[in-house]
Amino acid sequence: MGSFNGAEEEDVQYGRVIESSYTPEDVDVEFSLRPKTLSEYIGQEKVKENMKIYIEAAKKRKEPLDHVLLYGPPGLGKTTLSGIIANEMGVNIKITSGPAIEKPGSLASILTTLKDGDVLFIDEIHRLSRQVEEVLYPAMEDYALDIMIGKGPDAQSIRIDLPKFTLIGATTRAGQLTGPLRDRFGVVERLELYNQQELTQIIMRSAVILGIPTLKEGAAELARRSRGTPRIANRLLKRARDFAEVRGDGKITKDLANYALNCLEIDDLGLDGLDRRMLTMIIKGYNGGPVGLETLASALGEEAVTLEDVCEPYLMQLGFIARTPRGRTATALAYKHLGIDFNGQQTMF
Ligand code: ADE
Repeated sequence: MGSFNGAEEEDVQYGRVIESSYTPEDVDVEFSLRPKTLSEYIGQEKVKENMKIYIEAAKKRKEPLDHVLLYGPPGLGKTTLSGIIANEMGVNIKITSGPAIEKPGSLASILTTLKDGDVLFIDEIHRLSRQVEEVLYPAMEDYALDIMIGKGPDAQSIRIDLPKFTLIGATTRAGQLTGPLRDRFGVVERLELYNQQELTQIIMRSAVILGIPTLKEGAAELARRSRGTPRIANRLLKRARDFAEVRGDGKITKDLANYALNCLEIDDLGLDGLDRRMLTMIIKGYNGGPVGLETLASALGEEAVTLEDVCEPYLMQLGFIARTPRGRTATALAYKHLGIDFNGQQTMF
């Protein structure tokens, strides 16, 4: 077990250095960098504290852990945390994703290969089909599979017992889940964007593991421009290493980090081209908003989910956009950051 196929099955966009979905390179790097225990896992203090208690209680009772739903923006360590939970429980983990489970039969065969206590991790759980989801209900509630035999009036349902497993579901937004599925999770935890200090620690830890000479100030500079996301922080570390080896003396200093980030067109706050295009479109195309997400997405030629899951959480954290019932609006801070005055005149570039 411990199979890792979720990442390859995700829809991947390769162009963006600060895209937080996986690239093939990340899969290798993340594996070697993944912490194995809660004490090695940096940040998400509230989630760790709660999980520690649930894990200890379940172990004391010699029961499987209750089903866990982890939600939050991509790249914050939902898969990593699931691996840690399985490790701390002393059980195996099987990793898959919503879109990878195409038929009810595929889920049934995964479920029957689990052992008592095992963790089944389903990434992007909101993308399960209705038919597959229905197999999951009795599996989660009663550890059972209901199988229909025959058709029409003679059809019969037989019940097969399953091992007492723990489902860990991950999604970017809990609101995307159907009510019946969400209600079957006993533990629901939201992962938050990381602060600069936590990201600096994550980068320093990764730099040690990967053998990249990195000064704290260099790491802090990368951290500041990682959009609160460890996956992006680790990716920027690797790109900065390339610049350090080719253009510098191999060491990631503050200046080197700045140089590399500027070459990557990542601005002072970690915004990239798409973030800036989104803000500029709201401001210049729609007079600062409000503008509906779908309208904005088609004006930019992007998927609405990319804007909503990848750009928005960070732009909202920075206070650059606000969500209103009539759509998104750009705030005065966004105008200021882009150097545009309130009349829509560009003042700086
Ligand atoms: N690598 C990615 N996320 C991490 C985290 N939260 N703690 C430590 N290392 C990480």
